[in-house]
Amino acid sequence: MLTSARDVAIKAAEKAARLIRYHAGDIDEDGIERKGVNDLVTEVDTAAQKAVLQVIQQAFPEHAILAEEGVDDVDPTVPGYRWIIDPIDGTTNFTRGCPPYAVSIALQKDGVSVVGVVLEVTADDLFTAVKGAGAYQNGRPIHVTNNGVLENSLLATGFPYTVFDYLEVYTEVLQRFLTESRGLRRHGAASVDLVRVANGTFDGFYETGLSPWDVAAGSLIVEEAGGAVTDFHGKPNAVFGGQMIASNGRVHEEMLAHVQPLKDIRR
Ligand code: IPD
Ligand code: CA
Ligand code: CA
Repeated sequence: MLTSARDVAIKAAEKAARLIRYHAGDIDEDGIERKGVNDLVTEVDTAAQKAVLQVIQQAFPEHAILAEEGVDDVDPTVPGYRWIIDPIDGTTNFTRGCPPYAVSIALQKDGVSVVGVVLEVTADDLFTAVKGAGAYQNGRPIHVTNNGVLENSLLATGFPYTVFDYLEVYTEVLQRFLTESRGLRRHGAASVDLVRVANGTFDGFYETGLSPWDVAAGSLIVEEAGGAVTDFHGKPNAVFGGQMIASNGRVHEEMLAHVQPLKDIRR
């Protein structure tokens, strides 16, 4: 069942990506709505979500859905299958034609991710994982890096852009990583940061203020590529926790130590 669910997720992501590509570079300020400070949504996000839902609901009408643009039809404590969907992860990038941005689709069973698909739209880069069966980029197996030292690590993060209450402590953590790693990148799409940990581009990623649809697919892909994923307390199953460290596993403890000032901040 899980491989057929993965194939349905790929079909849904490809359908949404065609639509997103068609509208790329075609977004003006009047077409952008604000859900909150700097929290943007366009008609393309809504249309892409509709495209994803059409494919998934046709194949699995009995499954529950949690999708960013206003679909949440289940109590998370109820067991069963639930799809978690971000139709465009990196909407701000998309509105400016600035790569990367992605379609992110996960399937959870009883609260555990079992399928993850992230399709980076501009490069047409497809990342997939099924629990227990490895991680793939365009059909080829991928693995996290083997680097065991933070000093030699290239890292990714996301900056706060809607809640600015904790900038001081953010900056403190940022300074630690800037001085103790090889560098830090902020690309504006958490799902893409995650799959780039999975394929060894980055050794690690951390961010707070995350939503489940940003990370449900990408975090499974990291784990299936041999990496580790926890919250800032070191606990696994971090999809709903708002904060995440994803790494090659070998630099996880060092990263965990550095984010401690942020450990109680999830927004
Ligand atoms: C956002 C992107 C961004 C991350 C934010 C997300 P959206 O998703 O993933 O990189 O920093 O936390 O909310 O709003 O573009 O789907
Ligand atoms: Ca997102
Ligand atoms: Ca989104």
